[in-house]
Amino acid sequence: MPQADVEKLLREARSAAGAETPRDYVHRLLIAMWDSQIVIVLARLGVPDALAAGPRSASELAAASGANPDALLRLLRAAATIGLLAETERPDHYRLTEAGECLRADSPTALRELALAYGSPTVWGLIGAFEGSVRTGDPAAPAMLGHSFWEHLATHPDEAEHFSLAMGEQSAAASADVAAAVDASAYGRIVDVGGAYGVLLAALLAKAPGAGGVLFDRPPVIEAAGQHLRDSPLAPRIELVGGDFFEQVPKGDLYLLKWILHDWDDERAARILTTCRQAAAPGARLLVVEMLLPEPWAPSQTHLYDLAMLVLLGSRERTLTQYRDLLRSGGWELESVTPTAGHYSVLQAVATP
Ligand SMILES: C[S@@+](CC[C@H](N)C(=O)[O-])C[C@H]1O[C@@H](n2cnc3c(N)ncnc32)[C@H](O)[C@@H]1O
Repeated sequence: MPQADVEKLLREARSAAGAETPRDYVHRLLIAMWDSQIVIVLARLGVPDALAAGPRSASELAAASGANPDALLRLLRAAATIGLLAETERPDHYRLTEAGECLRADSPTALRELALAYGSPTVWGLIGAFEGSVRTGDPAAPAMLGHSFWEHLATHPDEAEHFSLAMGEQSAAASADVAAAVDASAYGRIVDVGGAYGVLLAALLAKAPGAGGVLFDRPPVIEAAGQHLRDSPLAPRIELVGGDFFEQVPKGDLYLLKWILHDWDDERAARILTTCRQAAAPGARLLVVEMLLPEPWAPSQTHLYDLAMLVLLGSRERTLTQYRDLLRSGGWELESVTPTAGHYSVLQAVATP
């Protein structure tokens, strides 16, 4: 049968199939884990970077990545099926789509490190343990890894590096919105608490030429951050401090807590807020950057993160009311909320006297 007839038959079969049935939909949800793996493996093999300069053939990409040529061609076709790649007019030659561009290391909207971090065998294994966490209400990490996710990262520098870089990608995407939500130039010493490699801190310092910054995180993270920030023009304005935010944080008049409180249960989140309050100058402000659970309930991506927080860390996402109460219990009063174009909101609070 000529190719044109095959394609006609396929088109007819597709339109006869009509709209997706409920069963099709659930089936698609089940095989979505394959979609995730396609994204992860493309990133791991460096295919998006190899396509940065333009289309390449499947065999060239196999040679560049060291993958099995037949298996790689099958991966490329699957990736084209879900819109990450497109085949060019030349058979078995592929280019990046706009979505696929996000997986390039040098993309301004990069998600490559997030793919590597979420795709690590550790995270993938923990996510596979949803059921246990839903049954018990406990995180999966202690049983699977022998300790918490943070302790695991402390002893696995490779995974920790991808995790911190992934946080930086997320912060880079949110930093313009966060910087627009606050007049950073009104502050003298900005402390990024649990700031990973300081991407958000750098964005605020760029808008506050008179301010100094303090990047505070666990000692191994701060050591790695020092390497990453070495060549930054902002490096002379950033003090690097390693420590434990349950014990003490550096003094300042503007505190940043981005994606920190959702990592902890209420008791420990309140403890972090209290250590910040104890170090804060009178009238200091605190910016909490988090995704909010809608209230009243509505479908939201934050509900999906809420489950991931349970499984990975035994923590939770929260509503605005819950954050207001949590802030109060740690010595801060909520002043304003700025939703951003992304999934984040910026909650500003003032230190209570
Ligand atoms: C989800 S990441 C958020 C990173 C950064 N704020 C961002 O949004 O890009 C949480 C950060 O908290 C840090 N962290 C975890 N436990 C900590 C502790 N006890 N003291 C200080 N930092 C801690 C982690 O190392 C990590 O960098």
